[in-house]
Amino acid sequence: MRTRSGSSSNLVGNENRLFAEVKPTADETQFQLDNTSDRYYNSPYYLLHKDELQQVPAPRTSPPRMELADVLGSDLTDAVTAAKKIIFHSVGDTGAAKVNHFQTAQQAIAHEASVADAMAHDVRQGGADGPAFFFHLGDVVYNFGEGQYYYDQFYEPFRDYDRPIFAIPGNHDGAVFGDTPDRPQVPTLTAFLRNFCADTAGPSPDAGGLVRSTMTQPGVYFTLDAPLVSIVGLYTNVIDGGPGVISSEGGHYPIPDDQLTFLTGELERLKPQREAGERAVLVACHHPPASADSKHGGTTGLANDIDQACRSAGLWPDAVLSGHAHLYQRFTREVDGREIPYIVSGSGGFAATRPQGGAPPVPWTKGEYTLVNDPIVDFGYLTVTVDATGDPQTLTIAFQSPTSGDSVTVNLATGKLAPTSGG
Ligand SMILES: [Fe+2]
Repeated sequence: MRTRSGSSSNLVGNENRLFAEVKPTADETQFQLDNTSDRYYNSPYYLLHKDELQQVPAPRTSPPRMELADVLGSDLTDAVTAAKKIIFHSVGDTGAAKVNHFQTAQQAIAHEASVADAMAHDVRQGGADGPAFFFHLGDVVYNFGEGQYYYDQFYEPFRDYDRPIFAIPGNHDGAVFGDTPDRPQVPTLTAFLRNFCADTAGPSPDAGGLVRSTMTQPGVYFTLDAPLVSIVGLYTNVIDGGPGVISSEGGHYPIPDDQLTFLTGELERLKPQREAGERAVLVACHHPPASADSKHGGTTGLANDIDQACRSAGLWPDAVLSGHAHLYQRFTREVDGREIPYIVSGSGGFAATRPQGGAPPVPWTKGEYTLVNDPIVDFGYLTVTVDATGDPQTLTIAFQSPTSGDSVTVNLATGKLAPTSGG
């Protein structure tokens, strides 16, 4: 593994990418910029447009696809390939902003830091055998995704996370603010594109001098091809209380169907590799297709779009990861002889919120989806492991929080849950 010279053991990625600070620094105790959510939610622009979709920026390349080795460097990815095992982190809704008037900035900062610091610790402990990257499930920055908040809510909290961070945008990342009823001066996702979809890796003007290089995703929706796993990440647009949307849904929404075409094409491409036992295939989308929360509930149109792509390609994903609802929920979806975990982990630091409307008694089944255990209402994150050392190969998704945890393992040979997982 390449590291920086001198006493630092920090990683240097491909094209001299930097991830973590060399010297640990104390957590900040105040936001550099207070996050004025009231002003946003009461702005004329938001009140007029909150139920409207925003345009989806066109990817730089088509199809938008990138290799982990091009970011992490081939030394580490070759080691992962040789070890036949890859581990990565995932969670959404990390952005720390004051949730309400009763919460202090210090509390908001501490919530996000509790998750970010635990993840950074995993990386330090694991070294080359530990988590190789973090795939963020959206809502990186609250309450509206403009560049001035990236330092407080992204670069500073993750300044010790010595691995690449990829992200799909959440609704808050795509939401933009305007003081007037007119279209905001800064188009949707401008800051997200600058920080996660840069043409080349380099310093970010939003990082406040911290070293993490900008990420070079080919688009806000894209596939990350890593050893043993591919993650197809979707952008589900900006509606907060409403549905996640990736297509026009048959002309119902004023956005094109490019993402649906992309998803179908990627599943078709990955199918032979999945069937040959070369890799697991995951889908990630900020809004959850299945959720027991009445405000951040499951989205039927989104679920139908994903299903349409899967059926057309003839490949189901091995798991679907989402955020948006600020807790952990695990569903098992039974379809075509498969048992697929649909996991919600919007528990990354913004808030820990009980399901609005209450959690149903478990197991709770709605159609093909069964909520298998009580939601965990706490801050925490996912550790995903694809293990090809044994027979059968397995995919394990574990949730860790200070108070409790959960884990599910998929037998990648049968597409069913391993018996110890329950559900
Ligand atoms: Fe969200």
